Amino acid sequence: MTIAIINGPNLNLLGQREPGIYGSDSFETFFGQLKARYPDINFEYFQSNVEGELVNALQKFGGVADGIVLNPAAYTHTSVAIGDCIAAIKAPVIEVHISNVHAREDFRKLSHVSAKAAGTICGLGLDGYRLAVAHLLEKKQ
Ligand code: DQA
Repeated sequence: MTIAIINGPNLNLLGQREPGIYGSDSFETFFGQLKARYPDINFEYFQSNVEGELVNALQKFGGVADGIVLNPAAYTHTSVAIGDCIAAIKAPVIEVHISNVHAREDFRKLSHVSAKAAGTICGLGLDGYRLAVAHLLEKKQ
């Protein structure tokens, strides 16, 4: 089983970036733990700060992965292109947010992704990625 994890802008700074909101673990540390927990899953990982590169990655993995775990970060709230892409690809996409976007500024309550995603997990920290992987695995079996 192949699962792609795609992270949007500024998520390369996890661990240093606003740790009170996003925690103090880097994504690399967390990702190592996730891979160790699911040794039978082939994980692909992509992070970009550039909207079009995220669309390209969604198109690429959308045809080959069994599922995609996507945190579009700030593009969640602005990107019609990412929403359209999710609707266009085959693989189910689970939208993940580390923070509870509904408990923050009003502009974070709008998502161009949620209506196109298979589901959304938010506010559970990095554990949201694990829960999304567990769900995709469960669905596949
Ligand atoms: C985020 C929430 C977004 O509003 C924000 O722009 C991010 C991260 C999250 O994981 O909580 O960069 O997607």
